[in-house]
Amino acid sequence: MPEEVQKGLEDVVALSSRITFIDGKEGRLVYEGYDIRELAEHSTFEEVAYLLWYGRLPTTTQLEDLRGRLRPLRTLPEELRALLDRLPATASPMDALRTAVSALATLEPGETRTGASSIGGALRLTAALPTIISEQHRRRQGLAPLPVRPELDHAAHTLYQLTGREGTPLENRALDVALILHADHELNASTFAARVTASTLSDLYSAVTSAIGTLKGPLHGGANERVMELLRSVANDEEIEAAVQQRLARHERIMGFGHRVYKVEDPRATILRDWSRRLGEAAGNLTWYRRLRRVEEVVHREKGLYPNVDLYSGSVYTLLGIPDDLFTPLFAVSRVAGWTAHVLEEYEDLRLIRPVAQYIGPNHLTYVPIEQRTA
Ligand code: CMC
Repeated sequence: MPEEVQKGLEDVVALSSRITFIDGKEGRLVYEGYDIRELAEHSTFEEVAYLLWYGRLPTTTQLEDLRGRLRPLRTLPEELRALLDRLPATASPMDALRTAVSALATLEPGETRTGASSIGGALRLTAALPTIISEQHRRRQGLAPLPVRPELDHAAHTLYQLTGREGTPLENRALDVALILHADHELNASTFAARVTASTLSDLYSAVTSAIGTLKGPLHGGANERVMELLRSVANDEEIEAAVQQRLARHERIMGFGHRVYKVEDPRATILRDWSRRLGEAAGNLTWYRRLRRVEEVVHREKGLYPNVDLYSGSVYTLLGIPDDLFTPLFAVSRVAGWTAHVLEEYEDLRLIRPVAQYIGPNHLTYVPIEQRTA
């Protein structure tokens, strides 16, 4: 039995995977051998999803086939829409998403959701997540669901579903890049949760439900919402430094900084910084970009911390017109490709994930009958 506990499982190698490699010292992120910078420059989300699921880049025919299979799966079963209708208007989008994915499992044919060859489930979840988020978001505002638009690619369709309007080519590309950047990230907490669930031979939908519940926490998903709160908390650019200093003086964490694996700048932050500026320039609004640059300077100077993916993503989504409380659901829209790829990999070489705990409680106590116990 190991004596030492690695708190938070830091640096513990829990399993082997061929999907994603992170070099935390060099600040490199690699999917199936391809550097994220190249994928963000040249590929699309569908191409990256194919890469994660099949371990190789698709040919034109394979990509078109994948797109063709995803499009009809965007439409939700009527029973699920009825369930979304019954959720309280106050339900958080992440609670609604977790509930809907769990419910969807009961509405799908068995072969789609169970067993080792559940690529059908991966496609279904990837296609359906944006529709679930969109329909719940619109219902709570008293708006009717949007008609599905089969001619739009995944990123363009997701932007249309979350904002109710069609994006410009620049906006669609910005979201496509953001989806590519978030598609996988090795053994992050939600992916680990998905793999633990799959390792019991449970089904893909249960694994993704576990993952969504895990992503919900602000230390994983949700940091970008807090970044936007900080940026909006000041009346002008000059006040942002003081706002950061106040938080540091109160020993608060500044969201969007630090990372368990990266010891230098997260490469996803570098790419999103550029997109934040590009979208800001196109919109004639560089406020968020300017403030974020100042925040970066201060946090690096005071704490030596580098930005992570969440620092700039919120500004990109805000400039795309996406509401703050859909940021984490949007993370799930992208990461579902990685979660499902990891679950399929887990099924290929399965061993129950079951670590051990170092026991630090009492031992050898004598049982006292209830009537003799004192408070
Ligand atoms: N602001 C201020 N101080 C920080 C921050 C921060 N954002 N991050 C780490 N530190 C300090 C922390 O207080 C600690 O200092 P000390 O040793 O003096 O107590 C030291 O750095 C090490 O922190 P840690 O919590 O032991 O590091 P961790 O590896 O457990 O945590 C983290 C990683 C991401 C949870 C943490 O950096 C954090 O809370 N960041 C803010 C939340 C955030 O941006 N989350 C998004 C993560 S990226 C999304 C993803 O890849 O999934």
